[in-house]
Amino acid sequence: MTSTSDTGAGKAPARPKTAIFISGRGSNMVALVEAARTPGFPADIALVLSNRADAAGLVYASEAGIATAVVDHKLFAGNREAFERAIDAVLVEHAVELVCLAGFLRVLTPWFVNRWAGRLINIHPSLLPAFRGLDTHARALAANVRLHGCTVHFVTPELDDGPVLAQAAVPIVEGDTPETLAARVLVQEHVIYPAALARVASGQAKLVDGRVVIAGDTTPADAVLVVPT
Ligand code: GRF
Repeated sequence: MTSTSDTGAGKAPARPKTAIFISGRGSNMVALVEAARTPGFPADIALVLSNRADAAGLVYASEAGIATAVVDHKLFAGNREAFERAIDAVLVEHAVELVCLAGFLRVLTPWFVNRWAGRLINIHPSLLPAFRGLDTHARALAANVRLHGCTVHFVTPELDDGPVLAQAAVPIVEGDTPETLAARVLVQEHVIYPAALARVASGQAKLVDGRVVIAGDTTPADAVLVVPT
């Protein structure tokens, strides 16, 4: 990946230009942007793209001085690949190398997913492969599980599937509602997403033959928050 190539003798490696796709609030986007501002973070957030012009996260991104783009899926009359080709053109225009889906509420076609294979990651609010799809917190409560959580994974054509980069487990407590549980899971999303992006951007984590390969020590940080260190 270009991120690991030297830009010259003694220079720091290039930080891959990264786009974040949102459809709404964008709290994970904010977590990624804040992380990327810390010294040594190996990715450069170059673009925030939304399919909705009214996505609240766009305001934060432009105030933060990040390029924003809106590609409205409704203009493509159900032609999903045409919508994605328009997105792809914006990514090329901004020289984007990595894409983070962060609450992007459009299902991507195999055309786009395969084009960005190994460079496209997503966060999902459950411990995959449990609870793919929507309403994950209510479904976890209904299933009476003790541990819920969130997952960052490489995107594959199958919805909410794909090799896992990082997970955080969040215990369910007595009296939890979908809202209280979602709030605690979200705190952990904001921890593992920047950590996972850093692994991919630095080249430490790679998608190889459908599996995540992580260079170096992969000892989890502790028994609950499972992020390779
Ligand atoms: C998060 O729960 C994320 O896991 C899911 O959609 C939600 C987006 O929230 N994919 P935000 O827009 O990042 O605040």
